[in-house]
Amino acid sequence: MSYQATESRYEGMRYNRCGRSGLKLPAISLGWWYNFGGVDTFENARAMARRAFDLGVTHFDLANNYGPPPGSAEETLGRLLRGDFAPYRDELVISTKAGWDMWPGPYGDWGSRKYLLSSLDQSLRRMGLEHVDIFYSHRPDPETPMVETMAALDAAVRQGKALYVGISSYSAEQTRQAASILRDLGTPCLVHQPVYNMFDRWVEDGLLEVLEREGIGCIAFSPLAQGLLTERYLKGIPRGGRASKTERVWLTEKDVNAHIDQVRRLDALARGAGRTLAQMALAWVLRKPQVTSALVGVSSVAQLENNVAALSHPPLGEDLLQEIAAVLAD
Ligand SMILES: NC(=O)c1ccc[n+]([C@@H]2O[C@H](COP(=O)([O-])OP(=O)(O)OC[C@H]3O[C@@H](n4cnc5c(N)ncnc54)[C@H](OP(=O)(O)O)[C@@H]3O)[C@@H](O)[C@H]2O)c1
Repeated sequence: MSYQATESRYEGMRYNRCGRSGLKLPAISLGWWYNFGGVDTFENARAMARRAFDLGVTHFDLANNYGPPPGSAEETLGRLLRGDFAPYRDELVISTKAGWDMWPGPYGDWGSRKYLLSSLDQSLRRMGLEHVDIFYSHRPDPETPMVETMAALDAAVRQGKALYVGISSYSAEQTRQAASILRDLGTPCLVHQPVYNMFDRWVEDGLLEVLEREGIGCIAFSPLAQGLLTERYLKGIPRGGRASKTERVWLTEKDVNAHIDQVRRLDALARGAGRTLAQMALAWVLRKPQVTSALVGVSSVAQLENNVAALSHPPLGEDLLQEIAAVLAD
């Protein structure tokens, strides 16, 4: 069935300026790390992408290796861009990244110019695009000179293959250096993509200040701690849930057990405040003025709707923030 985006799609979403750039991102963005790969059901991926766009989620975040198999999330997006989203390309912000292992040998990993630029060419082919909106260095490389990695990002822009560039998981000091190099090259760093959620607060230890000073936006990945900060694990580990996966294991039963008492208490606080735990967790991440967007993953349309509805609640009040802090301190 052909897709026509709903006319009211821009009415409910909030768009935040990304640092001191001209680009605005939706307060909730959609990540394609899981559930959009070749092993997943295409119809579900399509339903989530369509619903997201209908809700004003204009930003889809990808990386070369998302799948599985690696590359297949980009292929899924390519298929959708040729069909459903063809008329809407300029209403979408599409990002991809290179930095984690993608192909064998010394040129398919980390931060060399060789890897980044050939990977971007491959990504564009998989998605059937002439350019992405944002191209990221997916992680800092301790061996490649920072200037080489940043020059590769700058080259991607000069070649017309990316409109903006970003970095992911760079420390506060690495971010300061990267921003300075990129500024000198004439391609400002648009955005930093760090993990940020109630259980992982490393960005509060200097990174957010650097981003503010440098005028760089922040898109927080795994704001729901991969599903821990939702109702998903309240009754044990559900079949098909992230923590039950045997391939690409980034959330384990041990992680669930380590946090479940706090999760239960946070869930009670959320319910007392008339929201779901996921909605409270998203509002918590978005309470920081430096955070441009919360980058969620979803495995169903219902999860997506629940998350976007976080924006229809008022910001978290001071009392609730203190109660959350007390749970997190235990
Ligand atoms: N730059 C990087 O190095 C990096 C690293 C990781 C992620 N990312 C980006 O960040 C994106 C998001 O990461 P993430 O998937 O870990 O984010 P997340 O939002 O913390 O977790 C997503 C998972 O939480 C569960 N979930 C989401 N909403 C829910 C709801 N309302 N109710 C119940 N469960 C819910 C789902 O788990 P189930 O699948 O179990 O249903 C979903 O797959 C990725 O797709 C990727 O784009 C970037």
